[in-house]
Amino acid sequence: MKVAVVEGDGIGGEVIEQGIRILEHLTPEINLTHFDLGADRYLRDGTTLPDQILEKWRSDFDVIYLGALGDPRVPTNVHAKDILLGSRFKLDLYINLRPIRLLDPRRCPLKNKDCDDVNFVVFRENTEGLYTGIGGQFKRGTKDEVAIEQEMNTRKGVERIIRAAFEYADRHGHSKMCMADKSNAMRHGHDLWRRVYKIVADEYPNIESNHLYVDVLAMEMVRCPERFEVIVTNNLFGDIVTDLGAILQGGIGLASSGNINPNGVSLFEPVHGSAPDIAGKGIANPLAAILSVGMMYTHLGRPELEKQITAAVRACLLADQITPELGGKLTTKQVGDAVLARL
Ligand code: NAD
Ligand code: IPM
Ligand code: MN
Repeated sequence: MKVAVVEGDGIGGEVIEQGIRILEHLTPEINLTHFDLGADRYLRDGTTLPDQILEKWRSDFDVIYLGALGDPRVPTNVHAKDILLGSRFKLDLYINLRPIRLLDPRRCPLKNKDCDDVNFVVFRENTEGLYTGIGGQFKRGTKDEVAIEQEMNTRKGVERIIRAAFEYADRHGHSKMCMADKSNAMRHGHDLWRRVYKIVADEYPNIESNHLYVDVLAMEMVRCPERFEVIVTNNLFGDIVTDLGAILQGGIGLASSGNINPNGVSLFEPVHGSAPDIAGKGIANPLAAILSVGMMYTHLGRPELEKQITAAVRACLLADQITPELGGKLTTKQVGDAVLARL
């Protein structure tokens, strides 16, 4: 197992350090290589994500383990766009797999919901949509300014994420799929989503395929999360509904993710960002980063290790071995200690 590590900015390094302790404990043979990328490097020498590094990741590594990117000293966020979105685009990490799984019922902000009620996965399209940067500004800075951001939806891109979601559902014995778009208002791109969804869904007669407009999806995730098993949606909507999903699990510090290319190197990271408001204080919740290690193991063919990690994290939550944003008293490192002790 060869892992490229990018700690990134803010709390990125703090949470990744705890994830690495888990990796080294469960698989001492693991081979980790650190890459110095992020705001410090960018401010030092202008480097964001060089082609040689991308090439190295493609040829020499099984997975990338990333903290977070984003730093108030780089207000344009240019380095983060290059590194994070650059990896997703250039490594063709077209599946952003984001599980929404409640591990401790006391953490759910909804009334009377148990762990079984909040347990689904979101397949977020990760290489197109509104994220490509296609567009432009005209008469910038004047009162006549025009700013255009174009949403790109390709037949290939839409089909492969929908197909990946159905394949996953089929493989995991799920009986329900939900695709969310805004085809009532966005009649070109999202009409493509509707048509392709129907074509692929017809190949899976055993899976009940539903459709919701994304505004209703947001409502339904709160009203009745138990109705969902697998959700597939576009890049921006997937970003938004997975932060909503994060809080259903108890908090953004518990949400893990995989950016997956089934035919190449893949990248695992917590859903949260660099949290500049708490960076350097040693109080960031490392559990999202630790659960992302679990996802990485399953991806590498070691699902039993993900089960162990999830069980250890659940036990810590149930025992209130948690960081301050969840109401606990432990530091980032002490939560790492607690997970390790349980493993
Ligand atoms: P954020 O996720 O960094 O923080 C949102 C809130 O959640 C903050 O109050 C923060 O303190 C809290 N939080 C986040 N992670 C936490 C953790 N592990 N433990 C405890 N509390 C936690 O989102 P933001 O403030 O919108 O973004 C900050 C920067 O991070 C921005 O530059 C943004 O672009 C970037 N970002 C990067 C990624 C990524 O690298 N994948 C993801 C999201 C945001
Ligand atoms: C995420 C983040 C990123 C996204 C930002 C930092 C560009 O919010 O990974 O969820 O929108 O994809
Ligand atoms: Mn996000």
